[in-house]
Amino acid sequence: MKDLTPRKSELDPIEVASRDEIQALQLERLKWSLRHAYENVPMYKKRFDDVGVHPDDLKSLADLAKFPFTEKNDLRDNYPFGLFAVPRDQIVRLHASSGTTGKATVVGYTRNDIDMFANMVARSLRASGIRPGQMVHNAYGYGLFTGGLGAHYGIERLGATVVPVSGGMTPRQVTLIDDFKPDAIMVTPSYMLNILDEFRAQGVDPRESSLQVGVFGAEPWTNAMRAEVEEAFDMHAVDIYGLSEIMGPGVANECVETKDGLHIWEDHFYPEVINPDTGEPVADGEQGELVFTTLTKEGLPMIRYRTRDLTRLLPGTARSMRRMEKITGRCDDMIILRGVNVFPTQIEEQLLSVPGLSPHFQIELLQAGRMDAMRVHVEATPAAADAESRAAAAARLARQIKETVGISTEIIVADPGGIARSEGKAKRVVDNRMKDA
Ligand code: DLL
Repeated sequence: MKDLTPRKSELDPIEVASRDEIQALQLERLKWSLRHAYENVPMYKKRFDDVGVHPDDLKSLADLAKFPFTEKNDLRDNYPFGLFAVPRDQIVRLHASSGTTGKATVVGYTRNDIDMFANMVARSLRASGIRPGQMVHNAYGYGLFTGGLGAHYGIERLGATVVPVSGGMTPRQVTLIDDFKPDAIMVTPSYMLNILDEFRAQGVDPRESSLQVGVFGAEPWTNAMRAEVEEAFDMHAVDIYGLSEIMGPGVANECVETKDGLHIWEDHFYPEVINPDTGEPVADGEQGELVFTTLTKEGLPMIRYRTRDLTRLLPGTARSMRRMEKITGRCDDMIILRGVNVFPTQIEEQLLSVPGLSPHFQIELLQAGRMDAMRVHVEATPAAADAESRAAAAARLARQIKETVGISTEIIVADPGGIARSEGKAKRVVDNRMKDA
């Protein structure tokens, strides 16, 4: 793989500024953002008044902890536009996420917000090793989801050529990559695996493809998955993180030269990590729930938004801005099985180390008597699809999960192609517990 490290002169000066400079900018912007929210969004005014805090009370960054949290339900309760801080006619774009339950959450952007969004995605792509003039195949879904259009505008802003493919029609994805020869691809990691199968099905060697970088996000994925994809395509795989409520993709991104967690673009998004049970901020380096406050957003300022994503904050390395460790999972996705906490990423990690199994998987929760049980559906590789190999792979995976995660699971090894393929965010957990009850 080529060394794609950007030169320092290519970076925004703030990416390598001193911590003092970054914090001074954050404090100034945070004061603006709190006031903007308080003066223009009735919910924030009421919330602040109720607990007796005022934007003027923020004298230092640590004072932010005095302000109340915002949660996904607040967006639902104010559906569709109740949290917008500018008149609707100043909103130039809407996005929305359906979520799995309840009403959609709707987000809106002013022209300046869209501009900042494009700049942050462009910065993320540069960190990923992509340069102006290169070509990027964009397989994130276009539409109400922030992935497709968010990536699109960032690719253009960087000065690269965007191929706006969107998700789906997998055979065509491979044809276009083979014909257009893009330098980079943006797609969910689970859909990348689907595209990888299609390369093989078409007899195209993925290692011979033009792709040098993949920018993967929108769902959790492990370092084991990184190794798998980097080996399969002979390319760099970097992590991009974001969420619609805060902006979309490009809130944080890994640097291709270090791949040691995602640098948070702290000049626009102020991160905290809290204990999800008590709401108390934890020290940098400690695990907890990630919380963001937007520093410059006009249309939909977010104050202490609880992401439900679990990670920890780490000091900067390739950039001065702090890093977040790869996301372990969402609080909502945590499976509690007979008292043991389990995340799908832990299963992924084990699965990828077992020969004879493909990286596709789904977890099924069910009831066995009065106990909860977990079944892991995996898939044999074509070379190891005979009964004996399957049984050996299943036994090994069950043993590894027992040893590392501490739970007993039933492993079902399906035929090659037997696990449903993702075209966007993969559905990792199917809960059949109620049905069996
Ligand atoms: O998924 C934005 C995005 C698009 C990010 C494309 C990266 C690439 P939402 O649909 O609002 O926005 O979902 C946000 O997805 O709270 C995380 O739980 C999860 N997520 C996003 N990026 C990552 C990542 C987009 N790199 C939710 N690792 C977030 C793990 C991620 N989880």
